[in-house]
Amino acid sequence: MSLGQEETGWIAVVGSINMDLVASVERIPAAGETVRGWGFQTHPGGKGANQAVAAARLGGRVRMLGKVGRDAAGELLLARLQDTGVDLACVAREDGPTGVALISVQPEGENSIVVVPGANAALTPEFVDAHRETVLGAAMVLVQLEVPIATVEHLAVLCGQHGVPLVLDPAPAQRLPEEVFRHLLWFTPNETEAAFYLGEQTITDAEQAARRLLSLGMKGVALKLGARGVVLATQDGTMERLPAFEVEAVDTTAAGDTWNGGFAVGLTSGWSVKEAGRFAAAAAAISVTRRGAQPSMPTREEVERLLQRQGHLPL
Ligand SMILES: Nc1ncnc2c1ncn2[C@@H]1O[C@H](COP(=O)(O)OP(=O)(O)OP(=O)(O)O)[C@@H](O)[C@H]1O
Ligand SMILES: [Mg+2]
Repeated sequence: MSLGQEETGWIAVVGSINMDLVASVERIPAAGETVRGWGFQTHPGGKGANQAVAAARLGGRVRMLGKVGRDAAGELLLARLQDTGVDLACVAREDGPTGVALISVQPEGENSIVVVPGANAALTPEFVDAHRETVLGAAMVLVQLEVPIATVEHLAVLCGQHGVPLVLDPAPAQRLPEEVFRHLLWFTPNETEAAFYLGEQTITDAEQAARRLLSLGMKGVALKLGARGVVLATQDGTMERLPAFEVEAVDTTAAGDTWNGGFAVGLTSGWSVKEAGRFAAAAAAISVTRRGAQPSMPTREEVERLLQRQGHLPL
């Protein structure tokens, strides 16, 4: 199969849309203290928006289900998503603030973060029902854990009942109703998240961890291992480690989100799991060679060039 731009169905992303406000400080202030910062940047973020942007850049037809506030941040975030080609028909404006992350970073990289979910907290099960046709008509649905757990559960049941392929990126890790796992096509934790769901401190054997996660009932596990690649495991017996592409990493922020966007584009294009995983890994590898989350995400042409250079095209 070649990486042609064949017509594919919608990828629906149900998730967070945030503005990250990043202050560079000599020292993170203690309670009651004021310190002077020496730099400030704003970045579009939120795992939902990140995965939507990743998939859209990689040639996916992406529709976002989410909420932003009626404020300047919301305005800007919607404009950015629109510029990237993400369909916003199911993104609503909500009274109150857009989701924000207030991040203070010390010179050696240590940070402290306050996340205010804002409008993301209003992404209710009823909101999913209001956009039921989009969910049920999607070729694949992507969700993460920056929206209410009740919404994730509701979405999982809806997708499960109607056979809609659902991919859950369990970040940030938190307890989930047991039923959720059974409705997932793919569960895509990194090592820390996998350890959380297995009730362990760390992962020592990734293949064994993936096998144990499968016993929660999802059809497939993609265990992301950073520069060591990913383990793909399925109920029907696949157990495969795909290595990462060797690159000079400068900033791994949103590598996982880029991987998920690429994986969804590959799977909805009808490629095999291995082909989709390799495409995702190539996209994520390019993203770690550049700074930032959304600005670091590559286009499809860039990914195809990398795959070609490495002798992976035609697949
Ligand atoms: N240093 C690296 N070099 C090459 N590829 C990388 C590197 N780091 C990450 N990747 C690619 O990105 C994929 C996902 O990365 P990682 O395991 O760090 O996800 P994550 O922890 O979920 O990231 P995120 O911060 O976006 O949530 C890896 O499987 C790999 O393909
Ligand atoms: Mg992640």
